[in-house]
Amino acid sequence: MAVLLTGGAGYIGSHTALCIANAGLDVVVLDNLSNSSPEAIRRVSELTGKEIPLIIGDCTNKDDLEKAFSAYPIDQVVHFAGLKAVGESVAKPLMYYRNNLDASLTLLEVMAAHGCNQLVFSSSATVYGTIQEMPLKENFPLGCTNPYGWTKLMSEQIFRDVGKADLGLSIVLLRYFNPVGAHESGRIGEDPNGIPNNLMPFICQVAKGRLERLSIFGNDYPTKDGTGVRDYIHVMDLAEGHLAALKYAREHRGVEVFNLGTGVGYSVLDMVHAFEEVNHIQVPYRIAPRRPGDIATCYADPTKAHDLLHWQTHRTLTDMCRDAWNWQNNNPMGYRNA
Ligand code: NAD
Ligand code: WQD
Repeated sequence: MAVLLTGGAGYIGSHTALCIANAGLDVVVLDNLSNSSPEAIRRVSELTGKEIPLIIGDCTNKDDLEKAFSAYPIDQVVHFAGLKAVGESVAKPLMYYRNNLDASLTLLEVMAAHGCNQLVFSSSATVYGTIQEMPLKENFPLGCTNPYGWTKLMSEQIFRDVGKADLGLSIVLLRYFNPVGAHESGRIGEDPNGIPNNLMPFICQVAKGRLERLSIFGNDYPTKDGTGVRDYIHVMDLAEGHLAALKYAREHRGVEVFNLGTGVGYSVLDMVHAFEEVNHIQVPYRIAPRRPGDIATCYADPTKAHDLLHWQTHRTLTDMCRDAWNWQNNNPMGYRNA
């Protein structure tokens, strides 16, 4: 049997492909390469010594998904495929709703047609909206502040309804916090298009000299040093969370939701200082105005994932900073010159 990773050539998908292939599962990737490179999957094959088939196809296209399900004995799916840039989603909401919702719907239809009933979905801490009570627990009220977030919350709702209608389904919704870092080999990592939106790739590109300096968005938040606090999680810990979720889906029916975070919050200044110390490199920065839509603090209560998935994070902030830099330093232009 095989696990299909939609969007598996992307940042989290490629690390998960590596993790679950190393655990002995057969992996098939379907990706339209709109935000990724086939080189990522070539390198995962190289690192694992296993052939990882890559189907270049679109998750909103039934025929493309059919190709995957007819060619391989797929009994589980991890659904990463989606557009993820918050700002772009505000400018192009229709593109986000069309792509992200259509992908979830089409995938569910093709899975049903092939009797595949186990799914793990990439949701996001963004579905907690602007709640101020921390740490965030899975049963807190939900709401979003941008179209990207709504596509995640609406997809969650679709999966919950489908799971209610068909009691044979196993669906695991994973709410990721802030994934950072890279595989320790430095061969795969995060390769954003254009100027990065997220903090860690921005820090890496400043350290490498691709960008002049970091703008820290606000130092007047009600946090220990005034800068925003987030729950950064090493992408390999996150990948291991998917392995645990696939096991859980094999053993349980129904729909369940889990936070995947460390439970610890670090500020932007913590991240900059840790990066500088661990890697012995300067990260020039300036304080800039707050970024619209940002919240002061966000971190997970990961207790449910500890208890039911028997998963927890092992990697430290030092590991995150070292591995992010190892990838950036060895691949200054990401996969582009490969
Ligand atoms: P990514 O952009 O690196 O990976 C997503 C992949 O999906 C890309 O390879 C892209 O080419 C592919 N894709 C997009 N639309 C597709 C479609 N219609 N058909 C086929 N492939 C398609 O992003 P990532 O950081 O690896 O995120 C993976 C998933 O996790 C996404 O759904 C994202 O929304 C979610 N997520 C990410 C974060 C984060 O901070 N990185 C946090 C929470 C949730
Ligand atoms: C982290 C902190 C910024 C860049 C986003 C999405 C969320 C999820 C994860 C997908 C904040 C500060 C950042 C910079 C800065 N993605 N910052 N200068 O905003 O927590 O979450 O990615 O689901 O939906 O919103 O992550 O990395 O952008 O920001 O000061 O150049 O770093 O203000 O405090 P965020 P981030």
